[in-house]
Amino acid sequence: MARNKYDIDETLNTEFNISQLKRLGSYIRPYRKDMILTIALLTISSALGMLTPIILMQIMDVYIPNEDITGIVVLSLLMLLIFLIISVVLRMKITLTARLGQNIIHTIRSDIFKHLQELPFSYYDDRPHGKIQVRVVNYVNSLSDLLSNGIVNTITELFSLIFIVIFMFAVNARLALICLLGLPLLMILIFLIKTKQRVAWQISSNKSSNLNAYIAESISGVRVTQSFTREQENSKIFNRLCGEYKDAWMDAVKYNFLLWPAINNISTWTTVAIYVLGIAWIDQGVKGITAGVLIAMTGYIGRFWAPVNTLASFYNSLLTAVSYLERIFETIDEPVLVKDCEGAIEMPPIKGEVEFKKVCFSYEDGVPILNDINFKAQVGDSFAIVGPTGAGKTTIINLISRFYNLDSGEITIDGVDISKVQIKSLRKQMGVMLQDSFIFSGTIMDNIRYGNMDATDEEVIKAAKTVRAHDFIMELERGYKTEVNERGTRLSVGQRQLISFARALLANPKILILDEATSSIDTETEILLQEGLSKLLANRTSFIIAHRLSTIKNSTCIMYVDGGRIEEMGTHEELIKKKGKYYELYMSQYKFLEE
Ligand SMILES: Nc1ncnc2c1ncn2[C@@H]1O[C@H](COP(=O)(O)OP(=O)(O)O)[C@@H](O)[C@H]1O
Ligand SMILES: [Mg+2]
Repeated sequence: MARNKYDIDETLNTEFNISQLKRLGSYIRPYRKDMILTIALLTISSALGMLTPIILMQIMDVYIPNEDITGIVVLSLLMLLIFLIISVVLRMKITLTARLGQNIIHTIRSDIFKHLQELPFSYYDDRPHGKIQVRVVNYVNSLSDLLSNGIVNTITELFSLIFIVIFMFAVNARLALICLLGLPLLMILIFLIKTKQRVAWQISSNKSSNLNAYIAESISGVRVTQSFTREQENSKIFNRLCGEYKDAWMDAVKYNFLLWPAINNISTWTTVAIYVLGIAWIDQGVKGITAGVLIAMTGYIGRFWAPVNTLASFYNSLLTAVSYLERIFETIDEPVLVKDCEGAIEMPPIKGEVEFKKVCFSYEDGVPILNDINFKAQVGDSFAIVGPTGAGKTTIINLISRFYNLDSGEITIDGVDISKVQIKSLRKQMGVMLQDSFIFSGTIMDNIRYGNMDATDEEVIKAAKTVRAHDFIMELERGYKTEVNERGTRLSVGQRQLISFARALLANPKILILDEATSSIDTETEILLQEGLSKLLANRTSFIIAHRLSTIKNSTCIMYVDGGRIEEMGTHEELIKKKGKYYELYMSQYKFLEE
């Protein structure tokens, strides 16, 4: 997929896909008992409500002319009872439907989140994080109304509609038919605007997604924004995106608003028609049409168009919801490109021999990044990777954990092809410290323990001591219990590195991967850290990317990588003797130190 950005709309699907709704049905199924109960209650209450016009008709046509006071009082009390039952049922409905909707939303949301956590790095490389967030939060929220009230109301209203039509025909067939004449008009309107309305809602959801992407990006980058005083420009971009969203929304909602006035109009016309014709027919003495009948009929007409209105607005929210559902299911269905192959075996306990055989790799089709990488690290070796920025160092080590699939070639650990093992069993046995040392919100202790949830406090502290993080942690006001915020902004970059370093160590891995683990740590701490580490690295295989060559001088093997190729490989002494690129690099740092 082409890389997406805040000002690039996601693709539109013009075809209405009914399977989305079927799928939504599978989420609703577990709650069908609740749903049936609610619908049953509502149907009973709406049937009861249907009786009131008939009761009124009786009072008007029979009891008042007969001056039957007891009858009138009994019927009035009956009406009161009906209203009471209806209001109790409505109250129950509100609770039941709200719970129903929220439960379904919860399930959908956890499905997306679970899947998001499994999606490979490449998924996140390809789209703004704000566009992912908006799916999990806003789009799912947008279903809330449909799921809680929409479906229940619609089914109930359908029943009411059937009742009303039956009652109307029971009262007077001729007048009932006049009322029904309005329906075909409405159908024509709905048919005419259907596709436009759907596309308009899709565009609107795309624009809200763009806006979210920009907000997320701006919040992450707010420090840079402020240091380069870009606030005004950013506000302009934001306002533009906001405006686009507003316009798209207005455009979409315009179609929704078309239906209401149309229904209102049709309902008024039919009522007028019934009155005019009704009174004329009473005048002509047509059989079966009385003042009571007319009043009852008007009562039903009011009720006839109310469910039609609900059905129309359900139809509207259905179209809106489908545009969100498509994105939600698209996310849940997003193929996990890096996944266990068929019959993947569990990675046996790792000893630590790592071999790259003719490995080629590209992030994007047609843009090769690594070309023919070959090397072999024996158990306990420490491999250093050096080279200019963008050379492919991080890429090489990302492949050892199988964060991406290879284009060709093979990576083996203890002779086992890593593409043939269960990914989790592989990653569990590795300690990886990524270049971006991410800190989660929580205590320092939690953050280090992320590497091994079973580790005791003592083990956490031991790991922190090994990487020389203990001292600074103890200086924090609550030591290991100090709360840090998301991304660890209250810590220095070096401190964050030390914490992620400890995290990687805590997993007690047989293969340790450190991507510029010490780039922001002062030389003094680094020398201390080196001592602790050399003992620790003794029986592990390690891959260390470092710019400060003093840290990797003693490695078993140093690889000089440039342009996605290994240019030189050997021990420090060998490479110095060779007087190649490594030698130049070393000399430049050495000279720098001398000055
Ligand atoms: N997620 C990515 N998507 C596309 N290209 C990438 C990605 N990450 C890195 N690259 C490209 O791959 C090359 C190697 O990057 P990297 O391995 O991170 O270099 P470094 O040696 O600095 O660690 C660079 O040209 C970079 O632009
Ligand atoms: Mg890198």
